[in-house]
Order: sequence, then C-alpha cells, then structure tokens
Amino acid sequence: MDIRGPSGHLVDIDQLRTTAPSQSLRRLSELSAGHGGSHPGNLDGADDPVVYEVFEWTTGSTPTDLLCAVTVLYSSPDPEQPFHTRGHFHRDPDGGELVVGLEGTGRLELLSRQGEVRPVAIDPLTWAQVPPGWAHRVTNLGPVPLVFLSSCSAVVGHDYEGVPKEPWVDDLLGRET
Ligand code: F6R
Ligand code: ZN
Repeated sequence: MDIRGPSGHLVDIDQLRTTAPSQSLRRLSELSAGHGGSHPGNLDGADDPVVYEVFEWTTGSTPTDLLCAVTVLYSSPDPEQPFHTRGHFHRDPDGGELVVGLEGTGRLELLSRQGEVRPVAIDPLTWAQVPPGWAHRVTNLGPVPLVFLSSCSAVVGHDYEGVPKEPWVDDLLGRET
C-alpha cells in the first residue's frame, strides 16, 4: 500500500497551513545561542529564517482530551549548527508524549531535571516516547525538513523555563550514534 500522496510526500505542508486550526512558528532569532543567529535564510531568502512550524489539533480542553501536533522542522544551511525545536518540560509531571517520525531524519533529545540527556533517533514511521518529567526537543540532522507528529494530553502545558537554549547533544557525536 502506498500511503504517500500525489506529491510523493506523506505530509502536504500547504494543506496543513490551510486546514490546521492552530498554527505557530519559531524563527531563528527566537531560539538559541547555539544557532548563532548568522545563518543565511532557508525560506524566501529571509535573514531570520523560520526554523519550524507547528500545526495543532485538540479534541477539547479537559484532562482526558488529546493534543495532536505536526511539527515541520526545516534543515539548517549549516550542518555544524543543525536546527532544533526550543524544547520544554510539561507542566503536568505525569504527562508523557508519543513522537512519530513522518518525513526526514533526526533526533529526539530527552533532558531530565538532573541534567541527564538521552538521544533517540527519529526516522519515518518510527516512534519514540517522552517519559513524564523529561524535557524534550527535536533536532533535524538531515538535508530535508523533518516532519513529526506529537501526541499527548491536551492540558499537559508547556514549561520553557529552565530549559537551556544551548545544544543538549554534541552534534558531531550525535551523528555517529
Ligand atoms: C507537544 C510537543 C510538540 C512541540 C513542538 C514545538 O507537547 O512537544 O508539539 O510543542 O514540536 O516544540 P517547542 O514547543 O519546544 O517549541
Ligand atoms: Zn511536549
């Protein structure tokens, strides 16, 4: 069975932009020291490129409702400084998350409150789990956009405080694993 659409992609980003009820994006300047802020643009030649876009759906706003998000994380023009999402803890200490790779390749990075880092490879149609209590971000290690789906409780809450903006993993080491 071929689950790819006419474009040859699993995910049609233009259609997401047309249909997703909640949408946001992050630009390079909002992210980290680690990104350096001096990349050439990867979208329309912008000086401050879009690093990722997030498309979200929820079934409601109670603890039993679900959040489903698709993140499109673009590829950095500088392989030494791969693009990553900001990263967050969930406010609900019992709130874990499921991450499913859809397109592209990269790494889910888990960070404990004690500073332990666990990298997990993300590839198309593979899944990984964010255990409750761990901060998480995703890094694109490939030449094309990394598209992944996240699912968790709709009221899990995002806590960006105390999450370092710097890279959590040495990227040259990370690519060898
Ligand atoms: C949901 C989740 C993802 C991220 C998204 C953007 O709990 O983890 O949907 O929110 O990948 O990352 P952040 O929120 O770190 O900017
Ligand atoms: Zn999350």
